[in-house]
Amino acid sequence: MRQKIGFIGGGQMAEALIKGIIASGLYTSEDILVAEPNDSRRELLENKHSVKTYHSNQPIFENCLVIMLAVKPQTMGVLLEDCRDRVQPHHIIITIAAGLPISYYIDLIGKPDTKVIRVMPNTPALVLEGASALSRNSNVTDEELRTAEKIFLAVGEVVILDEIHLDAVTGLSGSGPAYVFSFVEALIDAGVKSGLTRAISEKLALQTVSGSVKLLKESGEHPAALRSKVTSPGGTAITALHVLEKYGFHGIIMDIVESAVNRSKELGKAK
Ligand SMILES: NC(=O)c1ccc[n+]([C@@H]2O[C@H](COP(=O)([O-])OP(=O)(O)OC[C@H]3O[C@@H](n4cnc5c(N)ncnc54)[C@H](OP(=O)(O)O)[C@@H]3O)[C@@H](O)[C@H]2O)c1
Repeated sequence: MRQKIGFIGGGQMAEALIKGIIASGLYTSEDILVAEPNDSRRELLENKHSVKTYHSNQPIFENCLVIMLAVKPQTMGVLLEDCRDRVQPHHIIITIAAGLPISYYIDLIGKPDTKVIRVMPNTPALVLEGASALSRNSNVTDEELRTAEKIFLAVGEVVILDEIHLDAVTGLSGSGPAYVFSFVEALIDAGVKSGLTRAISEKLALQTVSGSVKLLKESGEHPAALRSKVTSPGGTAITALHVLEKYGFHGIIMDIVESAVNRSKELGKAK
């Protein structure tokens, strides 16, 4: 029998993963099952991705080896209470819920031999450009971890870390898109302030950011090296960078990430 993957929760993130794993050839649509209470979401997933959907999560536990929990953290408790009797030792439970530690799943399922992989993805996974960090408990084998890694490689880059580092990941890449969106928004406003139309400013700001990231990736050069190449003596870029550093740009970025890491730790302790 071919291995099947089941999603519990058929929302935005589940759909991105389904899109990615079908496109990468990792699973065919026939091997993907989704449990989702919302009729219109089920209809959309069936029509758009030809996956099999169910109202109940029972068929997922009966037919799938890999089970992706893709519901919001606030509904996870109810879900785990509901499905604890269906969880078997061979299931590989992968969760993408933000902030909930692996111990939370083990406690609520009540079976210490349960295999749990906790993943911190980020929103660019919705366009297959995510950054995901994976961590596992000791019940998960190397091969099972590799299965999970392949799933998230289908929607972007992956790192594997001990769970203790997931707060740092949350502060950097989990919340990172919010910082980048803020930066881009400010850049657009700056263009408008300097007399460009909003449409032109948006086009230039977005391409500047995505082009710079592509240059960084493809050149393999350190950001400082590329930055020094665009700063000519007495020129515009060095003049602007002087202002950036006067306001402590590096320190601000390090502080915001640190504050998000600390908040993630606080939220984790509250569970
Ligand atoms: N979106 C992101 O970019 C992102 C990034 C990082 C992590 N995450 C994590 O990914 C998870 C999913 O996020 P999302 O944005 O995909 O959320 P979402 O769009 O709200 O999807 C969750 C889906 O699960 C359904 N659901 C609720 N209870 C269920 C149950 N007991 N059984 C089956 N399905 C159930 C919901 O239906 P109803 O709407 O009817 O309740 C909804 O359709 C969250 O835990 C979030 O923390 C998301």
